[in-house]
Amino acid sequence: MNNFTLNTPTKILFGKGQIAKLGRDIPADARILITYGGGSIKKNGVLEQVQKALEGRAVVEFAGIEPNPTYETLMKAVQVVKAQKIDFLLAVGGGSVADGTKFIAAAARYAAATDPWDILLTGGSKVTSAVPMGCVLTLPATGSESNSGAVISRQATGDKLAFSSRHTYPVFSVLDPEVTYSLPARQVANGVVDAFVHTVEQYLTYPVDGKVQDRFSEGLLLTLIEEGPRALAEPTNYAVRANVMWSATQALNGLIGAGVPQDWATHMLGHEITAMHGLDHAQTLAIVLPSLLAYKKEQKRAKLLQYAERVWNLREGSDDQRIDAAIQATRDFFEKLGVRTRLSDYGVDGSTIPAMVAKLKEHGLTALGEHQDITLEDSQRILEAAR
Ligand code: NZQ
Ligand code: ZN
Repeated sequence: MNNFTLNTPTKILFGKGQIAKLGRDIPADARILITYGGGSIKKNGVLEQVQKALEGRAVVEFAGIEPNPTYETLMKAVQVVKAQKIDFLLAVGGGSVADGTKFIAAAARYAAATDPWDILLTGGSKVTSAVPMGCVLTLPATGSESNSGAVISRQATGDKLAFSSRHTYPVFSVLDPEVTYSLPARQVANGVVDAFVHTVEQYLTYPVDGKVQDRFSEGLLLTLIEEGPRALAEPTNYAVRANVMWSATQALNGLIGAGVPQDWATHMLGHEITAMHGLDHAQTLAIVLPSLLAYKKEQKRAKLLQYAERVWNLREGSDDQRIDAAIQATRDFFEKLGVRTRLSDYGVDGSTIPAMVAKLKEHGLTALGEHQDITLEDSQRILEAAR
């Protein structure tokens, strides 16, 4: 096991009825900005619950943070934070609202350059302070509710870049599985795929004898395989929703990745697909992962065999047969959830692959994966094989 430092400072309020308690974790005299997306929280009653919990407080609202949140929209919220002297942000929504709010929090206090896009260009390394934020999560998927990362898109340039900073952890996050009942099937499936791939990015690399991390990861994968399809079939099954929600948080709050190698190449390639073609984040992962696993089979051999046996219970046949069957089982799982796994399934014919690879180069992503051995040429081949 490798050395690590782990600090997961976000307080979690988990379970039904917890939204009512969120006011306790926000300073009484704070001027609060509630940030949200396109309005799902108005339809499902979540905004009303939040407003009730904050009755009598100084509250302003900012709506319209889109999926794959854009710098253009978020900079409008930064103006509101400054004009209204906001000193607490409350993100109410999915990963896009949480991520967008992290950017608002950092940009409102950013001094390093006049244009806060610099935060993305420097990966968050120059962020020295941020407006404190909390989160009411409505879509289990990204883990953004208990990590410090955010992914922001810029319409004008077609970029989608990530940053993280120790200043952008949510102070608290409320996870009430009941608020996920209203999710459309597509977003439920997206969330399961995203959490699954987050786990894989930190598990399917090479062995370092991290037995706790491995078995924790396998537990998350098995839970998602078991409960993902059930969340689609039984949308109001509280226990199922609770297990999916907690799995997604655990998949990317730092725990399973501490002390083990991490890959993240699937995510980096996926971000370029979203930036160029607008696919949902999880759709891009479902396209790239099976292709990447097949391409990196030799380097990942030992963990692929462990994955085949412990996650998919594949014990028959040669090593290569079991590995191929495990990759196929992964693809079948995504397809069963309704998330297609080929670029062509989304009308992307492959002619833009060179342009996506050029963007990877522009973003300095020329050596990806746990061995930093995925070159631009390899990325091109992985995308070609995903057509
Ligand atoms: O905007 P509203 O009206 O709220 O509707 C949203 C949106 O259209 C809807 N929705 C959310 N909760 C709902 C609901 N509809 C009904 N009932 C509810 N309870 O779902 C749609 C998608 O929401 P979005 O927040 O975009 O989805 P997700 O949570 O999958 O977030 C995706 C974003 O997170 C980034 C992705 O790149 C993408 O931009 N990621 C962030 C990460 C992180 N911070 O650690 C890691 C991930 O790998 C990922 O990159
Ligand atoms: Zn993801």
